[in-house]
Amino acid sequence: MIMEKDQITLPLDEFPTKWYNIIPDLPEPLPPPKEPETGPSRMEFLSRAMIKECLGQEMSDQRWVTIPEEIRELYIHMGRPRPLYRAKRLEQSLGLKKVRLYYKREDLSPTGSHKTNTAIAQAYYAAKEGKTTLSTETGAGQWGTALAYAASLLKLECVVFWVKSVFDWKTERRIMMKLLGAKVYSSPSKETKTGREILSKNPNSHGSLGIAISEGLEYTETHANSVYCLGSVLNHVMMHQSVIGLETIKQFEMIDEKPDLIVGCLGGGSNFGGIALPFIGEVLKGKRECEFLASQSQAAPNLVKGEYRYDFGDVGEHTPLLKMYTLGHKVEMNPIKADGLRYHAAGPIISLLRKHNIVKAVTYPPDEKAIFEAARIFVQTEGWLPAPESSYAIRAGIDEALKAEKAGAEKVICMNISGHGWLDLDAYREKLGIQ
Ligand SMILES: Cc1ncc(COP(=O)(O)O)c(C=O)c1O
Repeated sequence: MIMEKDQITLPLDEFPTKWYNIIPDLPEPLPPPKEPETGPSRMEFLSRAMIKECLGQEMSDQRWVTIPEEIRELYIHMGRPRPLYRAKRLEQSLGLKKVRLYYKREDLSPTGSHKTNTAIAQAYYAAKEGKTTLSTETGAGQWGTALAYAASLLKLECVVFWVKSVFDWKTERRIMMKLLGAKVYSSPSKETKTGREILSKNPNSHGSLGIAISEGLEYTETHANSVYCLGSVLNHVMMHQSVIGLETIKQFEMIDEKPDLIVGCLGGGSNFGGIALPFIGEVLKGKRECEFLASQSQAAPNLVKGEYRYDFGDVGEHTPLLKMYTLGHKVEMNPIKADGLRYHAAGPIISLLRKHNIVKAVTYPPDEKAIFEAARIFVQTEGWLPAPESSYAIRAGIDEALKAEKAGAEKVICMNISGHGWLDLDAYREKLGIQ
């Protein structure tokens, strides 16, 4: 065990050998995907468009799934296990005496976020199934970069449909994706029927994740040997991301500490699910007590303002219906800097746990002032630059810490830092007025 003052480093031989699938431990059976009443079979379409192994994992009720050795090796290659840090300097600057703050370092990923945890797995299975091209959507650009990275390591092609409002300003991230060999299109694009239809009605469309998903799915339909990869929402993505929480459980055990609250930002739910679900599994079995808080934008408050009902995962209605907290798949949401959080629905597993009040949620105003202030405090005290999305977790973590401190309560809070902000400096410039 290597333990430095404020970082808890998991030894390599403790790195998980299995992913955790929470489905058999949920408080009620997960409502299955459904066909809509009209149109072609969406299940049949998905079985053509998606990676077979991932579809199998999507429906699986096996609690522990062995991580293939090749994937483990790539996880380790890209720096897993990732450290857990005690935020001592942040605690000091906030004047905390009773509250201890920790953060998990998914920002140390080679492309800048947790998204590589599922990108590597999906690319590995696609290559094994003889596919040559991975097609996908991206919002913040983090998922597109992660998939481009995984495709490049596994010698596959990658095509990315990127929400226009972000494509236009994140030039460095675009270069990174292209450097990794990906083809990158601003979405809505002229490459697909969905994109062309939207552009003909509204040539100035900002795009959205729902539109980009439709384009990515349509691309696979029209290009041989390609498969569609999704970076969030679905059950198999949550399972691949469980390495975050499984590592964190062991890291807290190493220092004999028990978190009372886990905080993560939430768009579709994959980084939040990644850190929270292994802990939630233990809560559901009565093995621990802990609370879980998802931090969202009021631009896309799916868990707070959404309805729990069946809805499509994309604007073009290519997906089956999934039971989720949703704002409606056609809803217009104004762009924000943390655009990875701008999705109309939270994944089915997170939504079910929200219904049972096991997952709670908080939202912040779309001007994002409070978010970028929290990021500034974090970078000035801890010295790491968070992604705008991750700064929602930091904001909520700080707010909860100050609340507990004021109430005189001892509390251990763990924030997930889902990504770094090195390719988001333009957002920092604009939001904090730095010249
Ligand atoms: C850094 C980062 N964090 C969080 C998210 C939100 O996605 P999810 O809710 O699936 O973790 C994104 C999405 O792009 C992201 O890039």
